[in-house]
Amino acid sequence: MRSCFLSFVIILVGDRVITLGKSGMWQELVVVSADRTFPMPEQMSFEEGAALPVNYLTAYMMLFEMASVRPGKSVLIHMAAGGVGIAVTQLCQTVQDVTVFGTASASKHETIAQGGVTHPIDYRTKDYVEEIRKISPKGVDIVLDPLGGSDTQKGFSLLKPLGTLIVFGAANCVTGQKKNLLAMAKTWYNQLSLTTLKLMQSNKAVCGFHLGYISDEQLISRTMFTLLELYSQGKIKPRIDSCYHFEEVADAMRRMHERQNIGKVILLPEPKKVEEKPKSNPEPEENVEKTEAAVDEKKEEAKEEVKAEKD
Ligand SMILES: NC(=O)c1ccc[n+]([C@@H]2O[C@H](COP(=O)([O-])OP(=O)(O)OC[C@H]3O[C@@H](n4cnc5c(N)ncnc54)[C@H](OP(=O)(O)O)[C@@H]3O)[C@@H](O)[C@H]2O)c1
Repeated sequence: MRSCFLSFVIILVGDRVITLGKSGMWQELVVVSADRTFPMPEQMSFEEGAALPVNYLTAYMMLFEMASVRPGKSVLIHMAAGGVGIAVTQLCQTVQDVTVFGTASASKHETIAQGGVTHPIDYRTKDYVEEIRKISPKGVDIVLDPLGGSDTQKGFSLLKPLGTLIVFGAANCVTGQKKNLLAMAKTWYNQLSLTTLKLMQSNKAVCGFHLGYISDEQLISRTMFTLLELYSQGKIKPRIDSCYHFEEVADAMRRMHERQNIGKVILLPEPKKVEEKPKSNPEPEENVEKTEAAVDEKKEEAKEEVKAEKD
């Protein structure tokens, strides 16, 4: 049996593993280097295995490597009902007394509050800066910003002295289904612009994070093993919003574009089983007719059987 010895674990042929890839993962089969695979805990489903790496590595490295979150600190996370937002919230709960402010649509507040967001804020109807200041006049210690543009400026203004702002996305560039040139220009124009002198005088830290540009394999492996341990201890658990087969990828993308998801949207490589009903399309009339005819036939058979028994 072929095996591969990693720093902490031996992986054998046939083991269930999680893998990480920068691209080309929407396939039934992928070939990856063995040191980029991690054994899945027994109780973990494949869907959870797919949902874990990107969201939790991002959340973990930002919180613990860059911002050094510690007991008693406060964190603002935007897109709190998204995959990364939920991972950030769960990881904050592994540290004592961390207050989490999370922006999300009002319809998602109950779920994120149950998940550990201390103060859910509806950014669509309220000014989140004002809402945070009402609760915490001095602001927050850590801001995790996947939005960019004017939101980065607001995040910086919300930081307490010695606080840390981490920019990890530019979602404000996308409005609706596609990248929007006007929104991109607006986001670029409104981005945070600072001199090092101003930064020094403000006593704040500004960082950028992009998992795709982390080339330190050992850092990734070490963090993955930490996350798998946290999963096994029941401290983190990826939230699966929905699962779609490959042939339903357009529906999956639509769900994300319409911002309906709470947690991760998963693509399943195995083809949809024939007997599974399509999620949204009603059964074609022709099939309905066939089914009704079959039911009628069965009824007739049953009547004949009863009659035969009586006779
Ligand atoms: N730098 C990195 O290494 C890294 C790694 C992973 C992800 N990211 C970035 O992190 C962000 C979150 O990723 P995710 O996977 O957690 O997202 P997700 O699960 O798809 O969450 C999306 C949710 O965020 C909310 N949202 C708020 N403003 C939005 C906007 N302008 N555009 C789209 N959605 C918006 C929506 O919920 P509401 O109903 O609450 O509005 C939406 O349902 C993305 O920008 C992604 O690019 C960066």
